[in-house]
Amino acid sequence: MTHASQELQRVFKTLSDPTRMRILRLLEREELVVQELMEVLGMAQSRVSRHLAILREAGLLSDRRNGTYVSYRFVPPPEGSWREAWAVVKRSLGEDPTSERDDLLLQRVLEARGDQSKSFFDSIGPEWDALRKVFNDDALRARAVERLVAPGLKVADVGTGTAILACELGRLGLEVIGIDHSRRMLQVAQGKIEQQDFPPGGSVELRHGEANDIPIASDEVEAALAHMVLHYVASPVEVIREMARIVRPGGAIVIVDFVEHDHEWMRQELGVVWMGFGLDDIRAFFAEAGLPNVRIEQIDSAARGRDLPATFIASARRRAAANGESP
Ligand SMILES: C[S@@+](CC[C@H](N)C(=O)[O-])C[C@H]1O[C@@H](n2cnc3c(N)ncnc32)[C@H](O)[C@@H]1O
Repeated sequence: MTHASQELQRVFKTLSDPTRMRILRLLEREELVVQELMEVLGMAQSRVSRHLAILREAGLLSDRRNGTYVSYRFVPPPEGSWREAWAVVKRSLGEDPTSERDDLLLQRVLEARGDQSKSFFDSIGPEWDALRKVFNDDALRARAVERLVAPGLKVADVGTGTAILACELGRLGLEVIGIDHSRRMLQVAQGKIEQQDFPPGGSVELRHGEANDIPIASDEVEAALAHMVLHYVASPVEVIREMARIVRPGGAIVIVDFVEHDHEWMRQELGVVWMGFGLDDIRAFFAEAGLPNVRIEQIDSAARGRDLPATFIASARRRAAANGESP
């Protein structure tokens, strides 16, 4: 007998059993463990395992260990007699009512898999925050976020100070322009930037200038951020208007600052001009700057574990006007 006909005989022998055909069909759709196959097929473990052994022996299954379980999968051979025979078998199985029943039970098995984790989280609820610490890793999270943010996106950091945030954004692959009116701060920022190792697309460029007259062309950036700057500026509305000017239509304007407070020491020790802002004031500033749809979130100081004023994050997107584009 030629090698080809020997091979063909092996193919027919392996596929001659209806249960094996059903198993292959299921494992082509989903990776399953023995227990799950038993549930779908309605068969005892010994029977399912015997068929799996034959299929494995024929080299048709790949397996993967998952703790104490082994899950199986069938990837149809790309060529040769197996491929042709499987195509014929699959076609005939498609018209078989058993397949319909198998699919229904497979669906249930998969739903039960998902329910496992759902019932875990349903039972755990608020304790998750403590448990979560086990999984939390700042570096890992930053790297995940890095994949979300489109590298090369151009953003402005208005009132960049020592460029802490600007460098963080640069490390995420963003092209950052940091603006500040203090030459001393820019000097420190420059030193910090030179020590950075930015990924492709990531960079920080510093420009000296005023927040109410930002040295960036109109529509030049995708987003503008001012972090803890607004309480220092003479006219918050003008600054927000400037930020809206430099972002392209659809781009984002984000302000992070203190909610109005009575920490007088900040005036003396930190030279602040504004003792924070009421959220209604912020809403009005944005509206006056041509950004009526502002989203504001307040974060109470307790959440940060220090005796500091509450902070807010306000953000809006610049609209594209019907005729022409204006903020
Ligand atoms: C509290 S620091 C915040 C720095 C930085 N955004 C951060 O979060 O680390 C405020 C910065 O805004 C700058 N600044 C204040 N008023 C400004 C203005 N009108 N134009 C440009 N920069 C300004 C200050 O020089 C200072 O570096």
